[in-house]
Amino acid sequence: MSPPSYAILGTGSYAPARIMTNEDLSKVVDTSDEWIFSRTGIKERHIAADDELTSDMATAAAEKALADAKVTPDQIDICIVATLTPDLPMPSTACIVQAKLGLRHDVACFDQHAACSGFIYALDTAWALLQSGRYRHALVIGAEKISTVLDWSDRTTCVLFGDAAGAVVLGPSPEGSTAEIIGAKLYSEGGNTELLCIPGGGAAYPVPGPGDPPKFMQMKGREIFKFAVREMEDAAQDILEQHQIHPDEVNCVIPHQANLRIIDSLAKFLKLPEDRFFVNLERYGNTSAASIPLAIDEARRSGRLPNGSISLFVAFGAGLTYGSALVRW
Ligand code: COA
Repeated sequence: MSPPSYAILGTGSYAPARIMTNEDLSKVVDTSDEWIFSRTGIKERHIAADDELTSDMATAAAEKALADAKVTPDQIDICIVATLTPDLPMPSTACIVQAKLGLRHDVACFDQHAACSGFIYALDTAWALLQSGRYRHALVIGAEKISTVLDWSDRTTCVLFGDAAGAVVLGPSPEGSTAEIIGAKLYSEGGNTELLCIPGGGAAYPVPGPGDPPKFMQMKGREIFKFAVREMEDAAQDILEQHQIHPDEVNCVIPHQANLRIIDSLAKFLKLPEDRFFVNLERYGNTSAASIPLAIDEARRSGRLPNGSISLFVAFGAGLTYGSALVRW
């Protein structure tokens, strides 16, 4: 008997109520709607309330994904939260989410840190664990309160990001159903720390003092742009070739939502029209590990992922990390 294949059984997402427009930002730093929109495609982003934590957003998205999948919390065997903004350095946000959702105690709960590629990393990890045959259902969540690691006086970073969460439930494919994961592939290029990092607040500089690097994100935007274009293309091409799928067979590409110009360049490389790409960054900005699951949920709910269609997910982030996954809905 062949092992069961695993499918995305349900999706959910959550964004905080507060919306910060480019216009609002121009009152905080020296920027403009024209600059931000023309360079990135972003118009606005959601910002979590002070008392709204990454685990709260993760839990809200997970509850919706569970309801969509018609899977109860006690059926979950694995809970992974992809995040670079955990509630606390310890314990994992996944354990906090476990308690909030009321998951069983014999559940593997852990955080996955691959920055903006985190969701693809978590999806592939959960999928591999399910294929071991030891687990049946997994919750895979991407959640970020990235507003807490931004320097709100640095216009080169603070205009790009927003807070949100997205989640999927994975489980054995019910008979006749689709949404199966065809494949996934992960990549890393360590040694590029200085291109995109939060230098302070870790073991190197636990409590940054005068002269130490800060606890805020620092980025070399132009270098990251070039890396993103190059590696999104590689990751997309690699997985398509591996599974012998022609780009034209991909009905919907769901890329990491960082910059519209990066997405446009991927569209040109794959020779696909723009309408094959699902883009929502205009309303959310870059929500890091939440970006792809949030987009998957919105794409599904807007009818962009009909049964039998093929989707390509492709992401890049700090590390540097990148990765891709293919799903047949
Ligand atoms: N508002 C107005 N001006 C700004 C600005 C802002 N928010 N941010 C930067 N500028 C200025 C710069 O100071 C610079 O001015 P100068 O020419 O007088 O020195 C000018 O705009 C051009 O800056 P530059 O960095 O060359 O712009 P860019 O075209 O490369 O766009 C990014 C900057 C950040 C939008 C772009 O590089 C990018 O998207 N990179 C990838 C970032 C990313 O995706 N990060 C997340 C990874 S997961």
